[in-house]
Amino acid sequence: MVTRSESVFELILIHIRPSQGAVLMLTNRISRRIVTTLFLVVPLFVYFAFVFGFGQTLAAVTATNGNSAAKEAPAVRQIPVPRPPMGWSSWNSFSNTVDSDVIMQQAKALVASGAQKAGYVYVNIDEGWWKGERDANGNFVVDPKAWPALAAGDQAGDLSNIVKYIHRLGLKAGMYTDAGGAGCGHYSPDLGPAESNSGSEGYYEQDMLQFAKWGFDYVKVDWCGGNKENLDPAVQYAEVARAIAKAETTTGHRLFFSICNWGNNSPWTWAPGVGGVAADIWRTSGDIVAPVVAGYPHSDRTASFAGMLGNFDHGIHPEAQHTGFFNDPDMMVIGMPGLSDRQNRVHMGLWAISGAPLILGADLTKLSKATVEMITNPEVIAIDQDALGLQCVKVDEATAALQVWAKPLAASGSLAVLLLNRTTSAAPITVSWSELGLDPSSPVAVRDIWAQKDLGHYPTTFSTTVPAEDAVMLTVKGKQGKTTRYENAARRNEVVRGAAPGATLASERSLTFKGVTSTSKSAYIRITYINGEKAPQLAELRVNGHIATRIALPSTGSEHAVGSVTIEAPLETEGAKNVLSFSSLGKTGFNILWVDVLSGPHEHSSRP
Ligand code: GLA
Repeated sequence: MVTRSESVFELILIHIRPSQGAVLMLTNRISRRIVTTLFLVVPLFVYFAFVFGFGQTLAAVTATNGNSAAKEAPAVRQIPVPRPPMGWSSWNSFSNTVDSDVIMQQAKALVASGAQKAGYVYVNIDEGWWKGERDANGNFVVDPKAWPALAAGDQAGDLSNIVKYIHRLGLKAGMYTDAGGAGCGHYSPDLGPAESNSGSEGYYEQDMLQFAKWGFDYVKVDWCGGNKENLDPAVQYAEVARAIAKAETTTGHRLFFSICNWGNNSPWTWAPGVGGVAADIWRTSGDIVAPVVAGYPHSDRTASFAGMLGNFDHGIHPEAQHTGFFNDPDMMVIGMPGLSDRQNRVHMGLWAISGAPLILGADLTKLSKATVEMITNPEVIAIDQDALGLQCVKVDEATAALQVWAKPLAASGSLAVLLLNRTTSAAPITVSWSELGLDPSSPVAVRDIWAQKDLGHYPTTFSTTVPAEDAVMLTVKGKQGKTTRYENAARRNEVVRGAAPGATLASERSLTFKGVTSTSKSAYIRITYINGEKAPQLAELRVNGHIATRIALPSTGSEHAVGSVTIEAPLETEGAKNVLSFSSLGKTGFNILWVDVLSGPHEHSSRP
């Protein structure tokens, strides 16, 4: 019988057979055996090398197919997303009096207090650094007295002096401008004279390039001018983002983007990934407090507990906070006049559980020991900086103003929980594991975060009395509840074929999962994908056609590495009604292999 490889061999021989002589016939017969053997062995060798040499990812992908899916854990790496920034800003305690001396003192205090070690690295210069003057070429004119030379070779009036100083301390430097023609200092000056033209409108590219050239690492773009001029923030901030990208390409220097339009035009609907940016933050409300500058007018201003709570409430948009994009409820007022230690601790807990940027606003040279301990508590910071990058949702408010907030953490079955008593008398608050979406068959381990104490295991609920205007912060660890998988079969098969060495994966520009069910209207969706590029791939997700968010799929490291990120999305809870449509916003498309709907904290029906 002629095997397939032998028949192929015959075809080859037609071309190579040199003559009909006996010797040659014999040679041919020997060659025929060798080549036949090669035809049989080489494919087998390639197959085994492929499966055992490169096959970890491949095996993981195929293991999820059919009945074997549940038996083997897929080798999917949870990809850590960019974290919310941590640092300090000059505005709350120095207003327009900011200068080189202020920044140096505060930068030193950030290091000396231990805050830097705890993760606070940005030193952000806010409004007041510039008086709105440009030279004939449109470049900023910087006051050489306020920003003098700081080291040998420095030129007075060159902001790279202060940036180098900040960098020498191992910190990062932040800068500030306005998206309009004139900034807040023109329309509502705090301490300084009303400055005109102190915005970047018309100069986005030039200004962002200058910031990057000076060496800044962060830029906050305010909205006073944009607001007065009735500009569209989604349009203006996209332009700023593109200017930042251009400056980054030109200088090789990264500028983190902080959008400050106080929640106007619902930035949570357009700010994630605006203008193609791979990570950003956006303010969701006005300022908690106007600046309190010692020795200057209005130094008797105080921050209020109610104001802080209001900013927290306005910052809750969990469907927009994922994959490196964050709601920003404003700089913290911890350590400023107004809040008691207890209220400050509530403030810190709320910012941490909402995964907010932790930007301090107090004068760092005057922090009390209690404040330093509070802002540097490693377990609280770990909740804020968790690798999933999600926000909390309110899961319970059985009695008005007694609330339970929960945020899923990266470790499976783990959540941060905050029991918040907004009333003026002590009250018991209960969290139940069912409202957190945990598997009811397993008891849950509870830890008190501020007390740094394990409280034991609880079968169904945990209750405690929370003092007036206080909060109890917990982490809980149980068993992850139900997970339902929706596969992109075509893509998975493509990956199996494309996983061969040297193969390049095809990618998709759009992908729809239909018939997705959820038992909770705040559903958690884990997206499993491959991104072999260095840069994140941006995709838009529409849920049931109408709610869109932009998602960044960070690099998984290689075309053979499978990763996952998790987002929160509002789904219908009746039947299999939901349609999830992904579409690519980048040049190269994406490779989404499957999505899992995870049971997670169930959002309480009313947002604050
Ligand atoms: C706005 C912002 C503040 C601060 C001031 C500066 O009010 O919200 O954070 O930047 O402008 O004037």
